[in-house]
Amino acid sequence: MTDLTFLGIESSCDDSAAAVVRGDRAILASVVIGQSALHADYGGVVPEIAARAHAERLDLCVSAALKQAGLNLRDLDGIAVTAGPGLIGGVMAGVMLAKGIAAGTGLPLIGVNHLAGHALTPRLTEGLAYPYLMLLVSGGHCQFLRVDGADAFTRLGGTIDDAPGEAFDKLAKLLGLPQPGGPAVEAEAAQGDPARFALPRPLLDRPGCDLSFSGLKTAALRLRDDLAAAQGGLYEQDRRDLCAAFQAAVADVLAEKSRRALAASPAPVLAVAGGVAANRSIRAALEQVAAKAGARFVAPPLALCTDNAAMIAWAGIEAFRTGRRDDMTLAARPRWPLDQTAAPMLGAGKRGAKA
Ligand code: KG4
Ligand code: ZN
Repeated sequence: MTDLTFLGIESSCDDSAAAVVRGDRAILASVVIGQSALHADYGGVVPEIAARAHAERLDLCVSAALKQAGLNLRDLDGIAVTAGPGLIGGVMAGVMLAKGIAAGTGLPLIGVNHLAGHALTPRLTEGLAYPYLMLLVSGGHCQFLRVDGADAFTRLGGTIDDAPGEAFDKLAKLLGLPQPGGPAVEAEAAQGDPARFALPRPLLDRPGCDLSFSGLKTAALRLRDDLAAAQGGLYEQDRRDLCAAFQAAVADVLAEKSRRALAASPAPVLAVAGGVAANRSIRAALEQVAAKAGARFVAPPLALCTDNAAMIAWAGIEAFRTGRRDDMTLAARPRWPLDQTAAPMLGAGKRGAKA
């Protein structure tokens, strides 16, 4: 059988993306157009602005991806599109475009769960065999998943409030650092003393793998205000030390919960995805946990850890291989938990659904 070639379309948050991926794991093209500049003045992603930008840009992403791959629509074997979870207007823009292409070409259509895209990425990048443990840590997501197949996910735990990236972004905001906050906080932390301020390690006293990050942000806010009141302002070193303390707390919590999740996992593999996995301290802490447990640590390259359409095309290929097909009734879903049997986690944040 010749290898499948799929077009992937992603528009669930603030990245418009299209990619062409082949069943032998070759990424023929991956185009991502971010929207940071459009949302910069608002301190978060504005759903209406995001939806309009997706509607304007997605077809450009698709033509650019096909051009990069040197292919035409008739060379494809299917269209995969993020059908949720995410900001509904953006997801709808993607689903409508994919339906239009499928209707016009007669190609099979597959609606992909965005989280499955992230969770299956190590299979695209490393050819990782099932089962494995996946820690998804980004601005919109935070969960431990046991991955047993293209459509077989068990959630072992997740955040009960903010995602860690969201917490980094909020900390940056309250310290006057630029967005996205993660890289800015990491740069400050590099020159800070993580031991100067004692921040909590939320939920470590509770068994299991659930996480919480909003209390950390509140504790950091209180420290900031106390310092400002006592000194009449915040010194540069205060900011650095706060960032270092915050980063150390997040790293500690993620490491301990990963250790527990790994102990409950059927395979000695810890894979990570999401923008927060770019953080060197966090990555080092997770690597250490894996090493101590005698487990393999897998972190896809950053461009494939953060939102992209190659992961959607790949998840589409995996679903197609299991015989799944969608039709013109495919609907955009703002919420779509990967593990349908697990109890729902808390609400949707500014960066999209946390399902
Ligand atoms: O995966 P991603 O690009 O988008 C989604 O949220 O889906 O993740 C972006 C998040 C942002 O919240 C950003 O602040 C965070 O990842 N991030 C980091 C770092 N780089 C990006 N957080 C901590 N340290 C970093 N170096
Ligand atoms: Zn994502």
